[in-house]
Amino acid sequence: MADIADRTGFVGCGEMGFMVLAAALEAGVLEASATVVAERDPSRHARLTDRGVSVVTSPGELPWCDRVIMAVRPQQFAEAAAELGRDDRGRLVVSVMAGIGSDSIREALGETTRVICVMPNAPVRVREGMSVLMPASSATPADLDLAGSLFGTIGATAELPESALWGVTAVSGSGPGYVAFMAEAMVAAAVDVGIDPEVAAILVSQTIAGTGRLLIEGDLDAAALRQAVATPGGTTEAGLGAMVDRDFPETIRAAVRAARDRGQQLADGQ
Ligand SMILES: NC(=O)c1ccc[n+]([C@@H]2O[C@H](COP(=O)([O-])OP(=O)(O)OC[C@H]3O[C@@H](n4cnc5c(N)ncnc54)[C@H](OP(=O)(O)O)[C@@H]3O)[C@@H](O)[C@H]2O)c1
Repeated sequence: MADIADRTGFVGCGEMGFMVLAAALEAGVLEASATVVAERDPSRHARLTDRGVSVVTSPGELPWCDRVIMAVRPQQFAEAAAELGRDDRGRLVVSVMAGIGSDSIREALGETTRVICVMPNAPVRVREGMSVLMPASSATPADLDLAGSLFGTIGATAELPESALWGVTAVSGSGPGYVAFMAEAMVAAAVDVGIDPEVAAILVSQTIAGTGRLLIEGDLDAAALRQAVATPGGTTEAGLGAMVDRDFPETIRAAVRAARDRGQQLADGQ
């Protein structure tokens, strides 16, 4: 076992925890010999031991780790935190738990805990995620570098203050739902104009993926790209005109506001 100063613990290693762990081991951001996982579901142990990490069943059995990735479901946090226990040696806790703020984490795990809350999104499954790192004031630049390296293995990362949580949740967190809804509508529209449904699904998915890649890698922002592909008097311009007539931007604005407001309500226990 590595020196405790280098040791990383995972509390819960289900879908999200395992995606981070597997990608970070592959990328060499984590070393298997210095990683210990507390996972209570025995059916999830083999894929961990196969990768050479140590596994225990309860957070209470974790050896002291100076950094801990909390990847249980939000409703499981209180129980997992009680098992892990408070500690005032000053460890880093990186949490992916939606809606659990840094105050609750410090309260449960010790006031000297340095906390970074992370909001990843669904495309982390194909390592094309967007993870927003929200450090509490106690987190150090080295803590942020570590969190950036971990989540950089499953997509892009950005940093924002924790006060941005519900805005971030409404944009990149819920965003895959909006884009999937747009894809669904485009496939239905394609079928309406006579395209085979299976082919339509490919046309739409690849158009969305390729446009996303063009926005990331090209030098045009979204407004400039929209203008560049819409020749005056052409087909794209005609399609965009129909979207403007139905106030497409307002639909998106309303979706983001509704998601942000719902996040705040959930946090207030409503
Ligand atoms: N999956 C996503 O796409 C996604 C996206 C953004 C954020 N997140 C966040 O990631 C977190 C984890 O989500 P997930 O989808 O990975 O959930 P998950 O697949 O259910 O993984 C959680 C794992 O932790 C285990 N666990 C719970 N309490 C434990 C305890 N006290 N000791 C040891 N193990 C314990 C669970 O075991 P049991 O099954 O036996 O309870 C489960 O195997 C959530 O807080 C969620 O908000 C997930």
